[in-house]
This record gives sequence, C-alpha cells and structure tokens, in this order.
Amino acid sequence: MKSSFRAPSNIALVKYWGKYGVQLPSNPSVSFTLDVCATETTLELTEAAGVSVALDGVDTPSFVPKVAQFVERIADRHPWILRFGLRVNTHNTFPHSSGIASSASGMSALALCVVDLAAKLGHEVADPRQEASVLARLGSGSACRSVYGGLVVWGETPSVDGSSQDFGVPYADAVHEVFRTYRDTVALVDVGQKAVSSTAGHQLMEAHPFREQRFAQAHAHLAALKPILAAGDLDAFMELVELEALTLHGLMMSSHPSYILMRPNTLHIIEAIRTYRRESGVPVSFTLDAGANVHILYPAAFEQTARSFVENQVKPWCKDGRTIADRVGQGPVSLQQ
Ligand code: PMV
Repeated sequence: MKSSFRAPSNIALVKYWGKYGVQLPSNPSVSFTLDVCATETTLELTEAAGVSVALDGVDTPSFVPKVAQFVERIADRHPWILRFGLRVNTHNTFPHSSGIASSASGMSALALCVVDLAAKLGHEVADPRQEASVLARLGSGSACRSVYGGLVVWGETPSVDGSSQDFGVPYADAVHEVFRTYRDTVALVDVGQKAVSSTAGHQLMEAHPFREQRFAQAHAHLAALKPILAAGDLDAFMELVELEALTLHGLMMSSHPSYILMRPNTLHIIEAIRTYRRESGVPVSFTLDAGANVHILYPAAFEQTARSFVENQVKPWCKDGRTIADRVGQGPVSLQQ
C-alpha cells in the first residue's frame, strides 16, 4: 500500500524563532506557501520492518534517522504505523545544492502520505489536512504551514481566529488580490551547509536576552498585518516584512553564542533592492530564511521590471548567477494515479 503527495515549501513573513515542548512555537508566524520549490514523496508500507529512504531513486541512509524520529513522534497518534516497515521515495523540484531547506516541503509531503494511508487502512481522521499539519509540525515546525496554499498562520494569537499552537490554519481574514499572486524570486547566495541548524537556533532563544520583547513583537506584527493584507498596502507590507527578516538575523547575531548567517553578498543584494526601490518606485522587497539566500518579493504586475532588475543587479551577487523564480502557490496535491 502506498501514497504519493507533492507539497510546496513556504516562506515566513512573520518568523517563527524559538520553540518549547514537542515542537510548539514560542511565537505565532505567517507564511506564503510557495509553488515551484516542492517535494514529491511516495510512502510505501512494507511487510519487512525498518525504514529506507531513496532520494531521486538513490538509496540515502543519511535521511533515515530524520524519518525514524518522525515515526517515533507520530506513533502516539498513529500506532498502526509501527506494524509496518516504511519505504520513502522522495524528490525535490529544486536543486539539492541550492541551500534551500527541504524540511518544510519534505515533512509536509510525508505527513500527507501518512494521513492518506491511515484513511486507506480505515483509521478515522476527522480533519485530514489539520491532522497532516499536526504531523508535519512534529517533523519540522514550519512544515505545518505547508499543508495549505496561500497565507498560513501557525501559533495561537488573539488577532487570528482559530489559530493554534498545534497546527497551521489558512489565513481566513480579508486578503487583497495583490497578495494572492505575489512573486518570490530566490537569490541563491550560499549553497553550502548552514553554519548553525535551525534546531540549534531555536534553542538559543531559550536564554535570549530579548526573548520576551521578540515574542510580543511577533504577536503585534501579526495584528498589524491584518489591515495591510486587507488593503493591499504595499509600503506597509514591505516595511514590516523586511523588519521581520532583519529581526530574525538580529536575534541570531545577539544570541549567546552569536552567529551570522548572512554573507557579504546577502548585504549587497539587500542594498541593491533598497536602492532600486527608492530610485524606481517599483515595490520590490526582501525576506530572509535562517540562511544567506535572499527571497525577493514583488507583485505579479511588476514581473517584467523586477525580473530585469534581478537579471542586471542581483544575479552578479548570486552563486553562479543562480536564482529560482517562485510564487505564491495553491498548496499540496495528491499524486495518486
Ligand atoms: O521549521 P524549522 O525548525 O526549520 O524553523 C524554521 C524557522 C524559519 O524558517 C527561520 C522561520 C519560519 O517561520 O519559517
């Protein structure tokens, strides 16, 4: 018996940074689900015990511990899974060496397969997408936001009805048309291994001197985004999203020990974006993950202009001139024939 899903990556606008318990967020976050950057996974239940993982058809034992840990964490909710061996076949649509984390899309795809198999085996699941989000969260926090398209909120916060610590929820308040088709061109700056894993980064928030202010700020930013998203207020959107990105990196730079995940070319690109925006009036802005790559955000209506800006002023700072043109997407799809 098997199940196959394609799940996209996501990029946070208000960042989750800090966790407690079993993958519970210290602050709420909201992200755009992407479209092009995705993982396609087939999960097969086998008679023989044990876990095997193949990446692009090649046996990849280094992925086994991550999947085994995932199974351990979900076994309370899905004890049936322990009766089987698991064969995972997975493929990322973005290059393995791009420095783009595949954990959000990968864990989301795997979780969707598990919930689908549970249903096929007759184990009742009241809300399959919500259950997939809970399981994805247990695999990798931000993965819980990748089970839906568009804007997704994770973490309980007063300004978002129905928001939860346990799973992501589709953002249900008013969203201006401009944000439904937003573009995200990822500028690949550093394609190597990150200096610090996000797990270690989250941990550093436990004793961070600014933690309480930061967590309060994230709640305030989610509340502030509400009228911005409804009105399509691009200036306010760009200001808030860039502040969130720089705050994330500011928190890393002020952790103990401190660390810097931006590279010199990250700053060159940020400078280029801000100068271009100031001089041309074109609403391009940026956000950052816990890494050196820059996500260049802009409305679909500015696609042509923004693309030539990227071509001329961003690519020279990218590793081998590499970028990935992505956009807000519709969420996961089943790949069942
Ligand atoms: O899901 P994790 O544990 O890889 O953490 C990801 C955290 C950020 O990407 C930096 C922010 C976010 O909200 O996605």
